[in-house]
Order: sequence, then structure tokens, then C-alpha cells
Amino acid sequence: MNPFNAVLKRKPDGPGQNLITARQARPLKNPFGGECRIRIEGADLFYGSARALKNVCLSIESRRVTALIGPSGCGKSTLLRCLNRMNDQIRGCSVTGSFTIDGTDLYREVDVNLLRKNIGMVFQKPNVFPMSIYANMTYGPKTYGVTARDELNRIVEDGLKEANLWDEVKDRLKESALSLSGGQQQRLCIARCLSINPKVILMDEPTSSLDPISTSKIEELICALKKDYTIVVVTHNMHQALRVADKTAFFLLGDLIEYGDTSQIFRDPQNDETKKYISGVYS
Ligand SMILES: Nc1ncnc2c1ncn2[C@@H]1O[C@H](COP(=O)(O)OP(=O)(O)O)[C@@H](O)[C@H]1O
Ligand SMILES: [Mg+2]
Repeated sequence: MNPFNAVLKRKPDGPGQNLITARQARPLKNPFGGECRIRIEGADLFYGSARALKNVCLSIESRRVTALIGPSGCGKSTLLRCLNRMNDQIRGCSVTGSFTIDGTDLYREVDVNLLRKNIGMVFQKPNVFPMSIYANMTYGPKTYGVTARDELNRIVEDGLKEANLWDEVKDRLKESALSLSGGQQQRLCIARCLSINPKVILMDEPTSSLDPISTSKIEELICALKKDYTIVVVTHNMHQALRVADKTAFFLLGDLIEYGDTSQIFRDPQNDETKKYISGVYS
């Protein structure tokens, strides 16, 4: 079974589940040729009657790393999932407000398949497919119609090089991806994400299951990738936010409490709740 199709073809969970898509019907556009600045305005999200995001407004800069921090359950993953419309799949989830890329509404003006091709996601646990390293890398491109062997080989090599994994795997591309270490698997997931040439990369605690050396490799990679991609990373690790993020947003119980340059948020937080959090009170 094609796991991409499983996600892409699933039907919405019924009328009224997603209030934004229910109000749609504008001509479709492709906003991914430009800078990819993301604006979130007045975002509210309910799981049933539980409000997980409360009137969130946030501008995410292009070719920068933005960290989302805050205690467990404050809505970081929920907000991340709004950006590639993964919450559309969740029964009882309703989203309102506006999510735009360079002015184009991600919910009303962009085809969801185009959206997911351009906004890649890397999860907490490396979710390599149980197939060869090579097949992991060609899966997405084949799904989107690339068939020429030379082209596929080029995508595999470029993606693995970009993810700093090529030298470690170039002689074992036909081996199972499951034979790689956890850190290598996570870099393969990032390489696989790059294989379909996204513009935005969302990462949900990408190093929380990894050892310190693998973590630092992923952090180096995040810093290198921002020259070409808009990156949003959820992290529990404040040192990681300081090391990789240009901008940091602090959330508490669904509210965006404070947002600014990472150095300002950590050295001179303006809000008392931010101060308490970064001094470890909640952790
Ligand atoms: N699929 C879901 N169904 C119902 N409630 C959910 C779901 N996902 C998250 N929540 C709830 O929404 C709130 C925010 O969760 P989440 O975005 O996962 O927080 P974080 O990533 O900051 O830990 C929590 O109260 C959580 O229990
Ligand atoms: Mg989370």
C-alpha cells in the first residue's frame, strides 16, 4: 500500500469537521513559487469541545528556523499540523482563522495534495518505510510521477547528500532502512522529505528519541537547510531552540504567550510565564 496515498486520499471526516474548508470554493492557486512566508491569524482549534488553540497570530519568516516551545499539551503539535492540514483527518477537530503563505489561503485556495507536497513533515520517531534506503528515497518522487532511472538516482544522491547521510549509506542503498541507527533513520526521513522538493519543513520534536551525537547532527542539518527552506521545529529542548532557531514562540494552554528573536526570548523575556518556563519551572 502507498502510505502517501493513504493519507492523501482519505476523505474528510464529515460535514462541519473543518469549518475553514466548509467555507471555501475560491479558485485554486500555487503559492509555493515565492518566498513562503507563513501568516497565521486568529487561529482557533477545537477537538470536540476542548479548545487547543486560542486566537493564535504568528508570522513565520522564510528561510529561517522558528521554534515552537512550551509545556506538553500547550498546542505545539496541533499548530504544526494545521500548517499541512493534518488536523483535517481528525474526527471532531474544527479549525477557524486564517493560514496563508505569501497571501494565499492554505485552506481555501490550495489543493491539499499540492500543499502536502510543499510542506513536508518530520516526526518525533523516525518513520522510515520498511523497504530499502533507495526505495524510501524514490517513493515520493515516483508517487508524483518521476519514472526515469537517471532522474531517480539523482534525487536519491542529492537528497542523501543534503541530509548529510550519503557517505554513510552510498554503498548500502539496497539494504533495509530499518538496518540504520535511529539517528541515521531520522536523517533518512529528512532526506525523504527533501526528495519531493518541499518549500517548508515542519519538524515535531525531531531529536527527542535520539542520542546526543545524532541530535547534534540533526541540529547541524537544520541550520544548513534553512538557507533553502522555511523550517518550523517543535522542541522541548531549550538549548536546541537556542542553537537552531532564529525565532521562538512560547505557548501555554493554547495561547501564544510570547514570540520574538530567540536571543531576546531567552535572554530578556517580556512575559512572566515565559520567564518561568525558560527557567525550568514547568519542565
Ligand atoms: N487528536 C486529538 N484529539 C483530541 N485532543 C487532542 C488531540 N491531539 C491533541 N489533543 C489535545 O490538544 C491539546 C494540545 O495537544 P498537542 O498539540 O499535542 O500539544 P503539544 O504538542 O504542545 O504537547 C492537549 O490538551 C491534547 O490532549
Ligand atoms: Mg507535541
